[in-house]
Amino acid sequence: MALPKQVKIVEVGPRDGLQNETSVPTEAKVALINALSETGLQTIESGSFVSPKWVPQMADSSEIFGQINRKQNVTYSALTPNMKGFENAVAVNADEVAVFGAASEAFSQKNINCTIEESLERFKPVIEAAKEKGLPVRGYVSCVLGCPYQGEVPLEDVVRVAKTLFDMGCYEISLGDTIGIGTPTKAVEMLTAVAQQVPMECLALHFHNTYGQALANLCACLPLGVSVIDSAVAGLGGCPYAKGASGNVATEDVLYMLHGMGIETGVDLDKVIRAGHEICQHLEHGPRSNVSLAALATS
Ligand code: HMG
Ligand code: MG
Repeated sequence: MALPKQVKIVEVGPRDGLQNETSVPTEAKVALINALSETGLQTIESGSFVSPKWVPQMADSSEIFGQINRKQNVTYSALTPNMKGFENAVAVNADEVAVFGAASEAFSQKNINCTIEESLERFKPVIEAAKEKGLPVRGYVSCVLGCPYQGEVPLEDVVRVAKTLFDMGCYEISLGDTIGIGTPTKAVEMLTAVAQQVPMECLALHFHNTYGQALANLCACLPLGVSVIDSAVAGLGGCPYAKGASGNVATEDVLYMLHGMGIETGVDLDKVIRAGHEICQHLEHGPRSNVSLAALATS
């Protein structure tokens, strides 16, 4: 099958990235989202309405939504694990919400303190309420290529949770390799299996880069026709409930690869590189993006 002509990037750095970084000032987060808004990105996951006891790094999400300069053509989305999170997201006018489940029972317990079945029950009213308000809901499935607690995750569990979330009303299902453990053939097998139950145009890939496989996995999956990729500026990120999980694949690296392959994204790579350098001034490490480091070395 041919490569897609266009890929949509869902920028998750301000959420997935910064949920794993302590003590980033709220104004730096706001500045990051504002800078990303000027790059051509269409969707920026900007916060998370979860328990501040569980993820204190996201406790300022309401302030962030209140302070960002919104651009009309940009969707500012947020994670909402339950009705409380949904109400908080609605109160600050999030444009889109996301529920997040897992294909692994053990990860579900550690991450959201309930079984997979309980989580799906919790998501129902969120999806219903979002529908009433006309808000799109995205659905995440974590641990699609392995779990930090359970190890192997059967493909049928991935497919079942993805299809259930889709049937419940999520417009897009994002398939998370939470601990970046996958390899290309496994990623292709997984995507092929899910795409038999959920239309390919409603699937997104959300690969962390812990083992340095994310770009290879994405590249292997592109010919299947998937055309939505989640990534994080400067390769920030990780899940606080997946020990050792490092950042998402870097947006800069994905853009460089896609543009080099003749695939359009509508996103300005140089502007993303600059946004990445800027946020890293507030972190104890530099950008985790080869493209960003190469650009710095040659500038
Ligand atoms: P729980 O303790 O079972 O919740 O946590 P509860 O309903 O029993 O309530 C306990 C307390 O939390 C109560 O407060 C609630 O009000 C409060 P208290 O009465 O004790 O003062 N509470 C909340 N506060 C604010 N916002 C809320 C909320 N809900 C309850 N929404 C819960 C269950 C889901 C809340 C908790 O486990 C949690 O917040 N987990 C979030 C974990 C998380 O954010 N993980 C990272 C994101 S997932 C990820 O990174 C993976 C992804 O990137 C894809 C991939 O890579 O695979 C998406
Ligand atoms: Mg993630």
